[in-house]
Amino acid sequence: SGLHALAKAAGKLYFGTATDNPELTDTPYVAILDDNMMFGQITAANSMKWDATEPEQGVFTFDQGDVIRNLAQGNGQLLRGHNCVWHEQLPDWVAFGNFTFDELISIVENHCGTLVGHYTGQILDADKIRAEPFNDDGTFQEDVFFNTTGTAYIPAALNAARAADANAKLYINEFNIEFAGPKATALQNLITQLKADGVPIDGVGFQSHFIVGEVPGDLVQNFQSFVDLGVEFAITELDVRMTLPETDELLAQQKQDYETVINACLAFTECVGVTIWDFTDKFSWVPGAFPSQGAACPWDDNLVRKPAFDGIVTGFQG
Ligand code: G3I
Repeated sequence: SGLHALAKAAGKLYFGTATDNPELTDTPYVAILDDNMMFGQITAANSMKWDATEPEQGVFTFDQGDVIRNLAQGNGQLLRGHNCVWHEQLPDWVAFGNFTFDELISIVENHCGTLVGHYTGQILDADKIRAEPFNDDGTFQEDVFFNTTGTAYIPAALNAARAADANAKLYINEFNIEFAGPKATALQNLITQLKADGVPIDGVGFQSHFIVGEVPGDLVQNFQSFVDLGVEFAITELDVRMTLPETDELLAQQKQDYETVINACLAFTECVGVTIWDFTDKFSWVPGAFPSQGAACPWDDNLVRKPAFDGIVTGFQG
């Protein structure tokens, strides 16, 4: 039966997937995407990002994002926003802008407020209010935001988003925070500081871009250390890549890895749901980013379910 139906039966809000506008011309793909018992939640992989939504300063275009919103609404699927502030996929006017502190704070506030405001009441979580603020060593990304405002842009973005939609949950989304280490610690410290300062922060998105056989052994323990700070969380971009070619052994391990991640979410009432970063290898970001790696998704290139699909089923069935 459908993965979302199983997630609901296990007490989760949703099981969902990322999708992207160019994929929506693929009829067999869309037939699976549209099944709201399979996917109860959708994230736009690209079309709500800054380059797509404010390509020129003050000029907002939501056409592509609205296509994804309309698809989710039409199917009765929840929508997670993605994303307000990130150091990638920025238009040049932001990435290479020469702003004063005050100018950039106001640009961030206007961008996040307008973006979240456009989708007020329609998004479940303004996921990735700030995506990926840290380097793996726990230092802050030295992007235009940090270099110009220090960390002041983070409360500015969160406050603007909360003002635009009082009910959307506000998340910070990161990768390589699924295990204990300097990056996880840095994010925990940031959350503690934001809460101490009265800045709204509701949740943590664990991207969970894993490698076959390398799901962190301390996943549950690490989730607990975030939950202890008083935040909910979601698994926001799950995939489990391998060095190609696929073998039966790798696919069997991948099945186990997906099951392990679902089990870790089920261990917490604070884990609201799981999103995979597209459901088919046909549209996975992995081969484009890691040549010689891929096969990271539960459906293969031909939209056929892999053992990983059964791993998710087994995970939800406990
Ligand atoms: O739009 C252009 C198109 O005009 C051009 O012909 C084509 C040729 O390369 O590129 C297209 O842009 C691509 C864009 O996706 C839209 O398809 C970019 O090259 C490509 O780099 C971009 O990749 C996206 C990536 O974020 C950017 O870093 C992936 O689709 C998207 O899945 C990925 O998602 C991120 C999350 O947002 C944040 N966490 C990590 C995750 C994986 O990188």
